[in-house]
Amino acid sequence: MNEVFLSVLRSIVGVANVLTHEDPGSDLGAWENDWRGLAQGRALAVVRPASTQQVADVVKACGAHGISLVPQGGNTGLVVGSTPDASGRQVVLSLRGMNKVRRFDAANATITVEAGCVLQAVQEACEREGFLFPLSLGAEGSCTIGGNLGTNAGGTQVIRFGNARDLCLGLEVVTADGGVWTDLSGLRKDNTGYDLRNLFIGSEGTLGVITAATLKIFPLPVATLTSFVAAPSVHAAVDLLKLAAARLGPALTGFELMNQQALALVAARYPQQRVPFHEVSPYCVLLEASDHESEAHGRALLEQLMETAFERELVTDAVIAESLAQSRALWHVRESITLAQAEEGAHLKHDISLPISAIPLFVDEIDRVLQQQFAGIRIVNFGHLGDGNLHYNIQAGVTDKDGGELSRVQARITRTVYDSVASFGGTFSAEHGIGSLKLGELQDYKPAAAVRLMRKLKDVLDPGNVLNPGRVLPLG
Ligand code: FAD
Ligand code: MLT
Ligand code: ZN
Repeated sequence: MNEVFLSVLRSIVGVANVLTHEDPGSDLGAWENDWRGLAQGRALAVVRPASTQQVADVVKACGAHGISLVPQGGNTGLVVGSTPDASGRQVVLSLRGMNKVRRFDAANATITVEAGCVLQAVQEACEREGFLFPLSLGAEGSCTIGGNLGTNAGGTQVIRFGNARDLCLGLEVVTADGGVWTDLSGLRKDNTGYDLRNLFIGSEGTLGVITAATLKIFPLPVATLTSFVAAPSVHAAVDLLKLAAARLGPALTGFELMNQQALALVAARYPQQRVPFHEVSPYCVLLEASDHESEAHGRALLEQLMETAFERELVTDAVIAESLAQSRALWHVRESITLAQAEEGAHLKHDISLPISAIPLFVDEIDRVLQQQFAGIRIVNFGHLGDGNLHYNIQAGVTDKDGGELSRVQARITRTVYDSVASFGGTFSAEHGIGSLKLGELQDYKPAAAVRLMRKLKDVLDPGNVLNPGRVLPLG
């Protein structure tokens, strides 16, 4: 039976684009194991289509043979959603080979790309034409537009440009029955019924396979200024955010928080990277301003902002990058935290979002409760404060690299964090999604009526459970 199915797949995408464990010297680990190393899956095959028609034919073949598939882009997702389960019965549908820019429309300020385009390649293609595609995140060198839209990724520019969803004007999607729905017209207004596009965005490959997208692009700013500041507390950082938003308006394009523990990890693992201050501060903020007038104008605004911030004791130290290289180095410190945590060893991720106004009290309370209950706990708190999105992560102790001790208390820690988040009106998944890692939390914290509606949608759009079953929603 497998052989018949595999030969159908080979007839669709070509022999070289169906990889199996039976191939001599095969190693499918890059497609089977998730980025965090939390799950080792086993695939029946990895299939690499080159066109939308091939995706449609593969989906149809899977449906006809009762085999499910997992859409995969760069496999950088953080919630175990893009790798197969351990059954050896699922197909990984890798979209990475579909990586063409189909159309660049300067007058409409849009770019239409295939789903397998790497995010950084799209940013660079836009930059060559004098435009900005503002989605930006640490994994941009390997994550793909299909994965970005599949997870509704956030990243570091959401404060000004929104999530991946806000940057998308159109999609091409292969549905679970192997049909193709196309709307790549790039209209900014289109009230012709239900919003199908936004149903597929963020559905983590469970409702359809995204094969192409039309994305919004923006004029490149004349100057981008980066500032790294030391803040005495989260309260001060939130007040600085308010001040920066008032002074800079839409020029405020990044506002990232990092606690001392997060920066200490980066410093310990990558000694060549420098936090630009002598004194250790409880928090640092990376603030980015983008100016459409001139470098001098942007710098003056930023300097005035810092002057007021010092007067109000919101910051205790500050630098403004003098060059592109310096600015990149400061961003690199921020973007290295995820990797530093991974290299340091076992850790828990809590990708939470709260009303920004609630964040200072939340952090005070949760820090205190965890420190009381779990002596010596290492809290690595960083993230996109400008969006109310914290990565309130917990690192295993220095003598517990493989997380043996952490694993005994992790359920209690996570429950304590998410209960507190819920009591402050927040959510347990801000930007990473549900995957298979947060299925329990979905049941525990999402209103039952919402989960029932989600289940109904899944049943209607994918009655055969062909697309990424057991992700976002538990198996029925
Ligand atoms: P994958 O990991 O391959 O897939 C992710 C999900 O999307 C899976 O459920 C998969 O089935 C589905 N999917 C993939 N392609 C398609 C498709 N074509 N059609 C339908 N569904 C599809 N995320 C953030 O939001 N913000 C951050 O700041 C951020 N920083 C990160 C930093 C690092 C160092 C790393 C490793 C990850 C980070 N992430 C972040 C998480 C991750 O990079 C994003 O979720 C990214 O959007 C995933 O893209 P991908 O191509 O790797 O998708
Ligand atoms: C980031 O913003 O760097 C990632 O989304 C956070 C994480 O790794 O927890
Ligand atoms: Zn993030």
